[in-house]
Amino acid sequence: MATALKIVPPEDKVNSFVSRKHKMLIDGKWVDSASGKTFPTYNPATGEVLSYVAEGDREDIDRAVRAARNAFENGPWSRLTPSERGRLIWKLADLLEENLEEFAELESFDNGKPLKIARVADLPLAVDMFRYMAGWATKIEGNTIPISVPYAQGAKFLAYTLREPVGVVGQIIPWNFPLLMAAWKLGPALATGCTVVLKPAEQTPLSALRLGELIQEAGIPDGVVNIVPGYGETAGAALSAHPDVDKVAFTGSTEVGKLILQAAAGNLKKVSLELGGKSPNVVFADVDLDAAIGGAANAIFFNHGQCCCAGSRLYVEKKIFDKVVDGVAEQASKIKVGSGQDDSTDMGPLVSKEQLDRVCGYLESGFSEGAKAVVGGSKTGDKGYFVKPTVLVNTNENMKVVQEEIFGPVVTAIPFEDPAEVVSKANTSVYGLAAGVWTRDIQKAHRIASQLRAGTVWINCYNIFDAALPFGGYKQSGWGREMGHEVLEQYTEVKAVCTQL
Ligand code: NAI
Ligand code: MG
Repeated sequence: MATALKIVPPEDKVNSFVSRKHKMLIDGKWVDSASGKTFPTYNPATGEVLSYVAEGDREDIDRAVRAARNAFENGPWSRLTPSERGRLIWKLADLLEENLEEFAELESFDNGKPLKIARVADLPLAVDMFRYMAGWATKIEGNTIPISVPYAQGAKFLAYTLREPVGVVGQIIPWNFPLLMAAWKLGPALATGCTVVLKPAEQTPLSALRLGELIQEAGIPDGVVNIVPGYGETAGAALSAHPDVDKVAFTGSTEVGKLILQAAAGNLKKVSLELGGKSPNVVFADVDLDAAIGGAANAIFFNHGQCCCAGSRLYVEKKIFDKVVDGVAEQASKIKVGSGQDDSTDMGPLVSKEQLDRVCGYLESGFSEGAKAVVGGSKTGDKGYFVKPTVLVNTNENMKVVQEEIFGPVVTAIPFEDPAEVVSKANTSVYGLAAGVWTRDIQKAHRIASQLRAGTVWINCYNIFDAALPFGGYKQSGWGREMGHEVLEQYTEVKAVCTQL
């Protein structure tokens, strides 16, 4: 009689993975850091150490870049057909989907987000991103171009373009959607045939490391994806300055985005940046009130406000200002804040002590300038990094809480009287990542959408993401776009080939 397979429940798998001492992935091998150093990653619900992770620095980055270069120039990767490449990416998506529950738990432990949210948002979006990009692997095309050449009368030419992979890509990602940000970055790199050195955020390295195991299991050749955890000022800085890296793709703060740009100047590597935001969410009086209130709450409180596109400036037409503010405040008061592993939790802790202090610092600054909290306004709990969902009123455009990215569950609500006024207020920001418009008037909706200086405008919805929809920022919210076919341009070089016939 065959012995029954022992099914390992996901939480046991997760606990045994988490409690490991984690290594880094270089050239298909799991290795310690060159220095032998490790760093802790914490459970933000308790402040306790979850596990220790190999701490990458300059020398590890150098080894990883060499492996990526070798895999790009000489490895089996460069000899695979686009179809074979696509199938490997699809396989990775399947593996991720098979292990969805494990990854959702891992993400909840390391980042703090509710497990039930990771299950329905982070994980399915990451799986879908890989599938979408798997399809693109066979569709990276150039053009044939009829040319005239004024000084070569009578001559005939065949001219065409090729789209070639940009080469070795350094990818530096943040902690707010650890796995999804890895998928946004790795998907297009793999589809176009690049090789990668990925540096996860020091706060949340675990899901990227587990993804590294699936990358191997999928059969993606050694050295194609190298994963070097470590701090930004060391490993991140070494990667962005590395002379043999062809491109760096970064998601994080605008401040660090500018440092990356300076570091990239050494070898003029290509740079794409997905940075901060202070997104306006504009509600007109003709709106479906319940939908707008729910939408405005979701726009700021989803992922504890730790979203680059969070709708953190709520502009409401004066006639309905009190109703909307009261409605959003009521929703905020119903949000159950607690450990992400608890099924009844709607909002988990912020990711770190640093972020808790930063968000509380903004609240204090707002109060000292005269802002009032209709609901929330402080941290909560005696351990972990929890902040109450907060709605601020009595704010104006000169306040720090209205100008700067808070990156926590804090929205500032401001009334307006006419559309022209609100567009100019909405656009008064150094950022231009996203915006929301709520109205039943279709002409007004599209007119305002065209006037907003933002990379994404959501009409009567918010936080709608899809692998096919490009995402990125105007102004200081970044350079280039993630997702959609637009992202492929940032991972390819165009080569013009011209033949005399
Ligand atoms: P950060 O920009 O410092 O970190 C993001 C990534 O960059 C991490 O992997 C980090 O290790 C790396 N990094 C840091 N310094 C670096 C350097 N000098 N060279 C290369 N890489 C470096 O963001 P942080 O400190 O975690 O959060 C601060 C603020 O940044 C947040 O309060 C929020 O306003 C913003 N932020 C925006 C994100 C977005 O999605 N656009 C994500 C995370 C943070
Ligand atoms: Mg930082």
